[in-house]
Amino acid sequence: MSSTPPEPTDRKVTTRGLRQMKEAGQRIAALTAYDQVMAGLLDDAGVDVILVGDSVATVVQGLDTTVNVTMDHMLYHASLVTRGVKRALVVGDLPFMSYQVNADTALMNAGRMVKEANVEAVKMEGGSSICSTVRRLVDVGIPVMGHLGLTPQSIHKFGTYRVRATDSEEADELRADALALQDAGAFALVLEKIPASLGAEISKSLDIPVIGIGAGGDCDGQILVSHDMLGLYTRYHPRFVRRYAEVADVMQGAFERYVRDVRSDEFPTVDESY
Ligand code: KIV
Repeated sequence: MSSTPPEPTDRKVTTRGLRQMKEAGQRIAALTAYDQVMAGLLDDAGVDVILVGDSVATVVQGLDTTVNVTMDHMLYHASLVTRGVKRALVVGDLPFMSYQVNADTALMNAGRMVKEANVEAVKMEGGSSICSTVRRLVDVGIPVMGHLGLTPQSIHKFGTYRVRATDSEEADELRADALALQDAGAFALVLEKIPASLGAEISKSLDIPVIGIGAGGDCDGQILVSHDMLGLYTRYHPRFVRRYAEVADVMQGAFERYVRDVRSDEFPTVDESY
């Protein structure tokens, strides 16, 4: 890995382009977005992959988990995001129970994401149990990103957001699931909150790009939830989130100054009036 990161080109990012980035040893920078304004800023900054994550549930809708997000919510947010993006690859998360029932339902919902919201790929959580569905989607031309490790849609099964795959049994299962997803045709894989050594090993062993979130520095790319890295959503601060700003503080300060100015008649001035 070169110490000087290559500048992103203006070329549209595609699933094939991401594979080429992995082969060339170029790190992939991914972030989440849920609306057009944020998506445009990310795109202008050179972010390669924009995920319309079901994390919208927690960081925008104020819910405790991602399980309540609906297909309609995801279609709405994804359609806002794709309107703001020119270069990045836009991936839409398939929400809980939109793909688990059977492959037909998954195909229909993934198809809606592509046709109605204009995303270029979908993401699904799970390993071997969803591989036949992944294959079905890929066969009709819908690229699929896998998601293993901490899978927030299964929070009620695990009962905790702790680090996954720390014991050898779960690590072996994760290795097998990663390979199965690649074999089923997934174009990339997200690994969430697992030991860095396992993230490195899986990234090395797979041909498809592995994008880590709390999976160490040796994955092919990194993803964070934008509201977390901006310090906009501050309810939790997992160790893997580096805060690049304290946006909640900036906003809070602005709102407080506005309230003060209105109450003290300092806003609006003559210059701000007609
Ligand atoms: O929903 C989401 O934002 C995600 C990322 C954490 C990868 O799945």
